[in-house]
Amino acid sequence: MVFFKKGKLNFICISDKFSLPLPLPAVKVTTAYRSSHCGQLRATEVGKEVTLSGWVRRLRKMGALIFLDLADRYGITQIVFDHTVDASLWSAAQELGREYVVQVSGQVRPREAPNPQLATGEIEVLAHSLRVLNTSEVPPFRLENETDGGEELLMRFRYLDLRRPINQQRLLLRHRMAMAVRKYLSEQGFLEIETPFLIKSTPEGARDFVVPSRLHPGQFYALPQSPQTFKQLLMVAGLDRYFQIVRCFRDEDLRADRQPEFTQIDCEMSFVDREDVLHMFEGLVRYLFQEIKGFDPGPFARLTYEEALRLYGTDKPDLRFTMTITEFKTPAGEDLFAGAGFRIAEQAPYMGGLCVEGGATLTRRQLDELIEFVKRPQIGAEGLLWCRWNTDGSTSSSMDKFFEESRRLSWLQKAGARPGDLLLFLAGEPEKTRRQLGELRLEVARKLQLRPADRFACLWITDFPLLEWDSGENRWVAMHHPFTAPLPEDLAFLEEKPGSVRANAYDIVINGAEVGGGSIRIHDEQLQKKVFRLLGFSDEEAQARFGFLMNAFRYGAPPHGGIAFGFDRLVALFAGCESIREVIAFPKNNAGRDTMINAPDSIEPRQWEELHIRPAFSNANP
Ligand code: AMO
Repeated sequence: MVFFKKGKLNFICISDKFSLPLPLPAVKVTTAYRSSHCGQLRATEVGKEVTLSGWVRRLRKMGALIFLDLADRYGITQIVFDHTVDASLWSAAQELGREYVVQVSGQVRPREAPNPQLATGEIEVLAHSLRVLNTSEVPPFRLENETDGGEELLMRFRYLDLRRPINQQRLLLRHRMAMAVRKYLSEQGFLEIETPFLIKSTPEGARDFVVPSRLHPGQFYALPQSPQTFKQLLMVAGLDRYFQIVRCFRDEDLRADRQPEFTQIDCEMSFVDREDVLHMFEGLVRYLFQEIKGFDPGPFARLTYEEALRLYGTDKPDLRFTMTITEFKTPAGEDLFAGAGFRIAEQAPYMGGLCVEGGATLTRRQLDELIEFVKRPQIGAEGLLWCRWNTDGSTSSSMDKFFEESRRLSWLQKAGARPGDLLLFLAGEPEKTRRQLGELRLEVARKLQLRPADRFACLWITDFPLLEWDSGENRWVAMHHPFTAPLPEDLAFLEEKPGSVRANAYDIVINGAEVGGGSIRIHDEQLQKKVFRLLGFSDEEAQARFGFLMNAFRYGAPPHGGIAFGFDRLVALFAGCESIREVIAFPKNNAGRDTMINAPDSIEPRQWEELHIRPAFSNANP
């Protein structure tokens, strides 16, 4: 942990991984319990009488001296108890245990051996009084950045886990980002408006969490998957620019970047087209980088959905490294593998490859690991082909039986390779193979460490398809949500060729993570009805579920559009965390449980009755 001062601000920098200096505002914390906080005192305060309150983080006994590291959110101050000065106080200090809460008064004096790692490292406080405010059981793990607690234990005792400085820093970062978001958006005329949590289902593609109604037997509220319909109604209401840092609820399978309840920065604007929205929110993200990280990532790259899939095999490419896909065989285009009797290439409608710069030095074992990787069931490729351009100019490939040097050179040249590079090829059906190449691209980057945590590549993905065919349900489903407007130039073929209509939608992707998404909305009742029909809703069903919105469109709905950021994802990205759980104060575990409070849990039989519901499982009742 490193502390330093810049103007009026103290900076604290914790561990290399989390190397972002966070200014701590110079808060006054003077209360009945303390005159200063534990990160405050400096050499200029030598001689001053002070009172501090905090937790006993560490105790060291050295002959007649006891050294106590007194900790609070702001830092650590060394307290000294000297047997030769006050023997009974020294004895009282000896009785203290880890994490006892104490109040200490004493005099600030210079340290004999200053500690440059601590902001308060030049001083210590010679105690002349000690009051135990509360005792503590021995904590189940070390409350330091490097802890010995396992994941399950850390979650069960999250309130202790949160005492670790790294976690306090993450919550501080989260707070600062929320403040910066509020400042930027307020200055742009956005109003923070709350929308209800007890609503009826909004279709964002996940399952709803539902809440049974006591007053209306057999009826249920749904918790919002997002405030989508309400923010659109706020535009109809003429509020013009809205935002909310808001909790959303989705009952979906969990991953590192997904929680059942998570937070969005939800925004909507009236009288805008796509460029207005992109400009406003690119501005927000750049502002956050400048405020929090101290640099501007510059204008964002842009790719259409089609380009992203073709070049990177994913709609959320990590652009910290280039490595684009080269197509060697496409159903409609050229075929650089033709006419050699190589069965795999003859049978596959598509062959794509990645050029790994300097990859010719990959060992046989490393290549085998990549082959194993693509054969994993989650990736699903049958095998991996390769071609190497050695630094001595010679070439070799895994298909040397079929292809001569001239052919190998034609592939290498097509991919823009140079001596020392390696080509990796996958063959198969285009859509699936592109996705596999996308996964392989990330795996190669992981192996070659091409994704440094302190570099940021931001981009917009635009022109998503409006609809996707759901073969399970045998109908079109909205790729984003049903309120997304089609691109004006594609409106004409909405009925004849719905699958080829592009949406006026956009996602923001940073370092391969989808951190936000939005669209220009439909604001015309007839068009909205048409889209619902395409999605398989009868007019009656659409009216029953979304009549409130379509009716509102009859009363002068302005053109509008917006976006929602995954706030947890954004904070995790800024904090360099792998999982959003690390930046949420009280997250759920992988199974969607809160093991600290033991939720979900059964409810009392009385509650079942009151709610007019019956348990479906025998273990649901106590
Ligand atoms: P979308 O469903 O794309 O759009 O969500 C917006 C952003 O929210 C984040 N996100 C999540 N974060 C953590 N856990 C989850 N389970 C989770 N699900 C989504 C992602 C995502 O990009 N109403 C639209 C927005 C709009 O059109 O304005 C919506 O919710 O970062």
